[in-house]
Amino acid sequence: MSILSGKNVLLGISAGIAAYKTASLVRLFVKAGADVKVVMSPASIGFVTPLTLSTLSKNPVVSSFYNEEDESAVWNSHVELGLWADLLIIAPATANTMSKMANGTCDNLLLATYLSAKCPVYFAPAMDLDMFKHPSTSQSFKTLQSFGNIMIPATSGELASGLVGEGRMAEPEDIVAFIENHILGNLPLYGKKVMITAGPTYEAIDPVRFIGNHSSGKMGFELAKTAANLGAEVTLISGPTNQSLQHGLVKIVPVVSAQDMYNQAHLFFKDSDVVICAAAVADYKPKEVATQKIKKDDSTLTLKLEKTKDVLASLGAIKTNQFLVGFALETNNELEHAKGKLKRKNLDLIVLNSLNDKGAGFKADTNKITLIDTEEHITEFNLKSKAVVAQDIFNEILNQLHA
Ligand code: CTP
Repeated sequence: MSILSGKNVLLGISAGIAAYKTASLVRLFVKAGADVKVVMSPASIGFVTPLTLSTLSKNPVVSSFYNEEDESAVWNSHVELGLWADLLIIAPATANTMSKMANGTCDNLLLATYLSAKCPVYFAPAMDLDMFKHPSTSQSFKTLQSFGNIMIPATSGELASGLVGEGRMAEPEDIVAFIENHILGNLPLYGKKVMITAGPTYEAIDPVRFIGNHSSGKMGFELAKTAANLGAEVTLISGPTNQSLQHGLVKIVPVVSAQDMYNQAHLFFKDSDVVICAAAVADYKPKEVATQKIKKDDSTLTLKLEKTKDVLASLGAIKTNQFLVGFALETNNELEHAKGKLKRKNLDLIVLNSLNDKGAGFKADTNKITLIDTEEHITEFNLKSKAVVAQDIFNEILNQLHA
């Protein structure tokens, strides 16, 4: 999944021949999962049709403040468009449009939208080589960048005039990759590796039976999604669950037993910066696993169980600079038990769930947590969706990493 997934992308098209490439650009943004709207300068309509762009974006395409042929038509609000956008990309950005942007000229809907937009603004210049070299164009680049607008550099090559030089708009694939990388590079966990354990473990009794638990894996999967959306490269070691997650930054490592989870966790631990053990690992497993299906010959059956390895505690014992987070699910003396686990397992933070709180725990979509750090600072949260709980947990992790 692209970091652009779910984002509102507003594409502003000005009148250059490279406008013909915006059909591909819209298609790529849509493919990345973005919701795309297009605003065109009036002259750009000569280069690419609004019908093509509205078909590809599945949204109406606007180029003037109102529809002159239809008096009852609604006013196209530049303010609304500007507020809707999570990012605005002007491509192609012609010398004329850039000069107007730099000077606050506002004589069409595209420019009014630019002036109203509060989101990050990218621009991809495109023009002939001599226009590109003109000092006034260089001045526009400088002024726009001084506003905080981000330039996606033009490339060199054959231009529409037949001349060869600088001024070709970056290719649509490169524009999308540039924006994705730029967003990622500014995210707080960019460059960090996060490992998360999730779900239950299944401990085999015989080839068809196991000891398991009701963990849904939801909390761990929400944590993985949140970490990836913050820019981290995530390894999600998950026991058997029905959860699914497709994200370019998340690698899922499926495991079955506590021993599998232990092995995989130790494989990825050394390279990790942040580790969260959210899995409900079985505490015991059958001492012997029957090689054949156990027949119901006797009226009772006794299974001898032995302890599994505690993944979290084993990581705490070898931890160097990793920030280690554990969960504690308690029914009584919750704070004392959680503080005890924090110390015993050598954690940096523990997330306490109390089974006495309605809506907290295994199967629910919600959770109610209390965070305890090594200074014994206690932060209690209200009942929230697991997605929001995951954000609360990462807000605290980010605070502690930057403290
Ligand atoms: N955990 C683990 N491996 C285990 C058992 C637990 O990694 N074999 C982790 C869980 O993922 C969780 C934390 O340890 O982050 C708390 O587990 P919990 O079972 O609540 O605590 P225990 O230390 O096992 O203590 P008890 O069961 O006695 O409450």
